[in-house]
Amino acid sequence: MQDHKRPPASILFIFGGSGDLNYRKLSPALYNLFLDDWMPEQFAIIGIGRTPYTNEAYNEHLLDGISKFSRRKGEQNGEWAEFSQHVSFLQLDAENAESYDAMTEIVKQKEAEWGTHPNVIFYLAVAPQLVPAIARKLGRLNLCSDKHNTRIVVEKPFGHDLQSAHELNALLTSMFSEEQIFRIDHYLGKETVQNILALRFANALFEPVWNRNFIEYIQITAAESVGLEGRGGYYERSGALRDMVQNHILQILCMVAMEAPVSFDANEIRNKKVDVLNAIRPISKDKVHEYAVRGQYSGGWMKGERVAGYREEKGVQPNSNTDTYAAVKFYIDNWRWQGVPIYVRTGKYMHQKTTQINLQFRQAPHFAFPTESAESWRPNRLTISINPEMDIRIRFQAKRPGQTMTLDPVEMVFNYDAAYGEHAPEAYETLLLDVMEGDATLFMRADQVEAAWKLIMPILETWENRVPQNFPNYAPDSWGPNDADALIAQDGHSWINLSK
Ligand code: BG6
Repeated sequence: MQDHKRPPASILFIFGGSGDLNYRKLSPALYNLFLDDWMPEQFAIIGIGRTPYTNEAYNEHLLDGISKFSRRKGEQNGEWAEFSQHVSFLQLDAENAESYDAMTEIVKQKEAEWGTHPNVIFYLAVAPQLVPAIARKLGRLNLCSDKHNTRIVVEKPFGHDLQSAHELNALLTSMFSEEQIFRIDHYLGKETVQNILALRFANALFEPVWNRNFIEYIQITAAESVGLEGRGGYYERSGALRDMVQNHILQILCMVAMEAPVSFDANEIRNKKVDVLNAIRPISKDKVHEYAVRGQYSGGWMKGERVAGYREEKGVQPNSNTDTYAAVKFYIDNWRWQGVPIYVRTGKYMHQKTTQINLQFRQAPHFAFPTESAESWRPNRLTISINPEMDIRIRFQAKRPGQTMTLDPVEMVFNYDAAYGEHAPEAYETLLLDVMEGDATLFMRADQVEAAWKLIMPILETWENRVPQNFPNYAPDSWGPNDADALIAQDGHSWINLSK
């Protein structure tokens, strides 16, 4: 066993136990934690759903998911047999309040068996519209008044807009205290996202230049090469701005732009992040066209395969105006970032899957070299690749070897695989462990979620009220609509694409 402290005894109830998220992400994450000796000495995982499953059939189903989606596939030298003894299935009608008492019984049994009062975690891996009803029924259980040991985990999307997010927060906080509520944004669990804080605040090198005096602009790209993957029903009501910008991209932006925390206390970090959201310049509805661009993909070809246009996808209206691409220009009105544009974009069926952050530095203040030495001269750039590449690159000028003074841009690279040579834990492993440990640093607080909604509401409302004239406006396997290039070209800039 590795030398580390495991979390205390825990019972995890997973609503949506027979669903896709549990199959692809949660069970593989829990099994990996088990393989790495991070699960508590005493634990029980109870999948909850309507489908009747015997425990054996349920475990077989989960093992199938692990064989397909885990970073470590399959049984792993028989360890699965031991793990699966901790896993069972509870068939429950989530709409019937009485049936929730079965969970109290299970907790009592485990308490007696283990001789300790365990953490009780309710993980709501269900469709967003089911969350309020389940939360209300859970709130009735005496268990939930235990602020220290009982926790509720809520997946994104957290609300559909500012109003519904506010109502959901009000509902949850009427039954649970804020420390009990864990709002998941899986990007915050990614190693490379957490490393932004290490890069910025564990080194003396970067922070002095991490501001408007040295940085000309910032870009955050979250491009996906997949389409809807069968999620038409959900996506049609969401769109790219809601699905990716309101949460993942704004969270990354907070990590990049926040002030230095005084400590690693969960609230200290979250205070610093919410300060960023509160300092972002609101975009008024009449200015949305100057700050935001939307797109929707047409049918076409993706890496040699014919793909349907968004409007032809299952679950999508034939005249749908849902955005599958969104680009926004933000400004942060504070001393550090005044005047520095922050361009963000995300889209489905883009040319390449890549999530990356680019900080483009200003030009050197004086250029003493002969003009001909610098044909390929470029400003410095720091690139943080979040996934699938996991690296950090610094671009700087070097003298090309030879008898003339010719300058070339070169890169210094830190690559996770090369440096550590092992598979990093998946985001859900980190987040589930944090829930069991009661560490909320990487989870979104009520005010953060609402501040993020507040920022994007004018864009959402303007888009909803104005029918786009040019949809579909980008082809699969491209970098999105031309309007997105124009959005930043007006500032004299262009999007930084990986293949460039
Ligand atoms: C999810 C979105 O939150 O993030 C999906 O709902 C998206 O539409 C996914 O595909 C992207 O996550 P990752 O970790 O693959 O970049």
